[in-house]
Amino acid sequence: MNILRDSNEDGNLNAFLGRGGAPIGIFDSGYGGLTILEKIRERLPEYDYIYLGDNARTPYGTRSFEVVYKYTLQAVIKLFELGCQLVVLACNTASAKALRTIQQRDLPTIDPNRRVLGVIRPTVEAVAKFSYSQHIGLLATPGTVQSNSYPLEIKKLHQQLIVTSEACPLWVPLIENNEHNSEGADYFIKKNIENLLRADPLIDAVMLGCTHYPLLMNKIKHFLPAGTQVIAQGEIVAESLSDYLRRHPEMDQRCSKMGGIHYLTTESVEKFTSSASIFLHAEIQAEHIELE
Ligand code: DGL
Repeated sequence: MNILRDSNEDGNLNAFLGRGGAPIGIFDSGYGGLTILEKIRERLPEYDYIYLGDNARTPYGTRSFEVVYKYTLQAVIKLFELGCQLVVLACNTASAKALRTIQQRDLPTIDPNRRVLGVIRPTVEAVAKFSYSQHIGLLATPGTVQSNSYPLEIKKLHQQLIVTSEACPLWVPLIENNEHNSEGADYFIKKNIENLLRADPLIDAVMLGCTHYPLLMNKIKHFLPAGTQVIAQGEIVAESLSDYLRRHPEMDQRCSKMGGIHYLTTESVEKFTSSASIFLHAEIQAEHIELE
């Protein structure tokens, strides 16, 4: 059975939810979270999922703390309204700028039994084993770099690691506009990687601290010295979510398991479906949703 196609056949959110599901919500500012969703579904195919991309307001990476927090909270509330008990912010920028406030300030009043998880902590937990030199590079959006979340979290867990960050403001817009395979994209990818390596030539492992960046994987590897480890987050986050559900059976029981998936976008459905289908290598249908 092709779960992906079957569960999208009517493309109707009410029909999907009418089956009594409590899907796991996966949120990103745009398409990037699809790289996480894909790995999560490979690891945990039996669960139901709602993917929500705020494509109309992407990118988040160049927006202020207040705006990213406001948009992310709106998305979380929407996913809760749709029955999600657990939401994964499959977006580093949202994880860096909104997760802590939502967990500490908003969840206790909205519903203390629901949970919102991010992608930075699991990535940091996994990162040390990738580097021999103990010099790690971070490629991320300006928002994630400015938040300093990665160096701060890494300091807590791996004091020996030296982290150097490079903000890549144009990479997400290139991907969102489907220009990431162009020569113009090469120019910016090469430039940011050269900046990173100039700042620390001992780097032997590079974290992709933005869920969009796996879509540039071949190009990133091409411009890095041979043998450099490139750490994408999909499998790390999928493993961490699986571990979380194992350690929290009360949450696991509340998540429905009918293998369904539904896609929501704040942009036009046509735009989302054609691009998302390229990224996921599968035909999908989506529905439009408003966040406010
Ligand atoms: N995928 C988001 C991230 O991981 C992209 C942020 C953006 O919209 O700029 O940071």
